[in-house]
Amino acid sequence: MVESILESGQPTSSRMVWMSVEPLPIAVLISGSGSNLQALIDFSSDAFRIAVVISDREGVRGLERAVEAGIPTVVVTPDSREGRDGITEAICDAASGYGATALVLAGFMRVLGAYAIERFPLAIINVHPSLLPSFPGARAVEQALEHGVKLTGVTVHFVDEEVDHGPIITQRAVPVYETDDVASLHARIQHVEHSVLADVVDRFARGALGVSGRIVRDTVSHATEDGR
Ligand code: GRF
Repeated sequence: MVESILESGQPTSSRMVWMSVEPLPIAVLISGSGSNLQALIDFSSDAFRIAVVISDREGVRGLERAVEAGIPTVVVTPDSREGRDGITEAICDAASGYGATALVLAGFMRVLGAYAIERFPLAIINVHPSLLPSFPGARAVEQALEHGVKLTGVTVHFVDEEVDHGPIITQRAVPVYETDDVASLHARIQHVEHSVLADVVDRFARGALGVSGRIVRDTVSHATEDGR
């Protein structure tokens, strides 16, 4: 990050200080419709910018959204790669090639290998459609309905070596109604995802998230709440 402080030249007591910080370049990983990517595009932030969108599938709507927004795209399919490690390395290389220093998994339906965590330590963020640790994996919405829970929700977390397991940054509850099916519940969850993910990425990019083991603290909002 580049930081520059410009002072207005007024007397010290009333001096205005302007701080400008280069936006954090991120890579957004997608596999499908990219509605979370769209939320990141629409969140106009001065703290992060989307340097590249990487998809593991050709022809998905999320790639069109990136092109419409003028963001470079890369497709890394598993076809010619050697398993999980091969595709993980190719994705990391593509992200770094565009200068990204963090990865945001926004509906990316593939498990990255441990190599990605070595390359981007505590700098990979995932959004998951349940209140983890309940219902990890690809069928989170279906499993919430099958289990009969009355509340499910959204988790945004750092990625570690295990699936849907890393330190939890934030969670939001979403009620499950008796009339829900997978589509209606997922739509309500996604509505919440769209507001939460971009906000988390913005706070991450501002350096506001402190991590100690599994515990993530928002140092900026803590300061506000404590009045310090
Ligand atoms: C999201 O609900 C995400 O939580 C899940 O897959 C969905 C992707 O939606 N992993 P989109 O591609 O962002 O529209």
